[in-house]
Amino acid sequence: MLSLLFRRRAIQTHPMTFMSIVGARPQFIKAGPLSTELRKEHREILVHTGQHYDYEMSAVFFKDLELPRPDFHLEIGSGSHAAQTAAMLRATEEIMTQQKPAAVIVYGDTNSTMAGALAAAKLNIPVAHVEAGLRSFNRTMPEEINRIVVDHVSHWLFAPSTVAQMQLSKEGLEEGVHVVGDIMLDMLQLNAGRAGASTVLKRLNLRDKGYYLVTIHRAQNTDQMERLAQIIAALGRLDSEVVFPVHPRTKNKLMDFDISTPSNIRLIEPQGFLDMLRLEKGALCILTDSGGVQKEAYYLGIPCVTLREETEWVETTTSGWNVLVGTDPKKIVEAAQRHSPGVLPQPDFYGRGRTAVTVAEILRKSN
Ligand code: UD1
Ligand code: UDP
Repeated sequence: MLSLLFRRRAIQTHPMTFMSIVGARPQFIKAGPLSTELRKEHREILVHTGQHYDYEMSAVFFKDLELPRPDFHLEIGSGSHAAQTAAMLRATEEIMTQQKPAAVIVYGDTNSTMAGALAAAKLNIPVAHVEAGLRSFNRTMPEEINRIVVDHVSHWLFAPSTVAQMQLSKEGLEEGVHVVGDIMLDMLQLNAGRAGASTVLKRLNLRDKGYYLVTIHRAQNTDQMERLAQIIAALGRLDSEVVFPVHPRTKNKLMDFDISTPSNIRLIEPQGFLDMLRLEKGALCILTDSGGVQKEAYYLGIPCVTLREETEWVETTTSGWNVLVGTDPKKIVEAAQRHSPGVLPQPDFYGRGRTAVTVAEILRKSN
């Protein structure tokens, strides 16, 4: 009892100010659990860059997941990589200079991640990178460039798995690396009950295991007309209804390229997190190019077909739950209809949903 009292006092005397930078859909989801943990002992300044701004891409997550309101909203919006990143760099530098956080926390691999990390590193503010060490080995992906830059300027590298840790080691990064699991699993576990109560299947008149779920948003799939058209044609050949929450990038490209969708494809707005989890859980199979959705399929035990040539989340494929098919229509159709990992084990490569607690503890100890 007495030691607990001392411990509490010791903690209370060293509150730190952290600045978390978010901006894109998956980052709202990733930041939630760590925000909760940090705010138990410390001050968190939450900065939203405004990279995603539609209600369905941003506000819905703050509402559904009861995330803290951003202290600063930079409203940067869309733009070319350089224009968007440059605007974020200027704006985050200004806020960091004003607020003088003890550390800056960034998530994943978006332009918001890179801008936040670079601005902080240049101001000599230590950077914590949550989701360090992921590599696709495909440098044509903007995210791959972001990951490499961010990992090499970070002070704490929070790797989700030992494979990610090994990758960092190959690049000479060993100091400050901690294997902490995947923070998205924390969020999934925290919301599994509420997602189970979602009425989305009823609203969309869907039967459990009566549909395929699809998400596509990677630039390499959406920005080339032929690839996008091939994927849509393959989805049109599937033997059940295809539910497709459409990312705004993809919606724009479908319109620009004048690609019409076959009648079994149901295009819907991007979903809130709880409805999305319910849609994932009820799917026959998930077809996606999303990083987060591949992992969620794995956690939920749903067969996953990844519409890419490579994945950063290699454990999902080596375990047999996820298959890589690229955009070849024949491979897509065969994999979606036949891929049945069924009773294969699901080892906890990405931890057990305690990532936020572990990260907060490491940050606290370094104080
Ligand atoms: C970004 C990330 C990607 C991540 C994805 C998550 C980069 C380089 N890419 O991709 O790693 O997987 O977010 O979803 O950071 N748009 C809207 N409304 C919005 C947001 C975007 O209409 O609220 C449209 C705009 O036309 C914009 C396009 O989508 O130009 C692309 O948005 P952007 O944030 O640049 O990239 P994403 O494809 O969303
Ligand atoms: N997601 C969501 N609604 C959707 C599509 C995705 O809530 O309509 C969630 C999904 O469950 C996962 C995260 O968004 O938690 C993945 O984000 P996204 O696919 O945009 O980016 P990536 O993970 O590829 O960077």
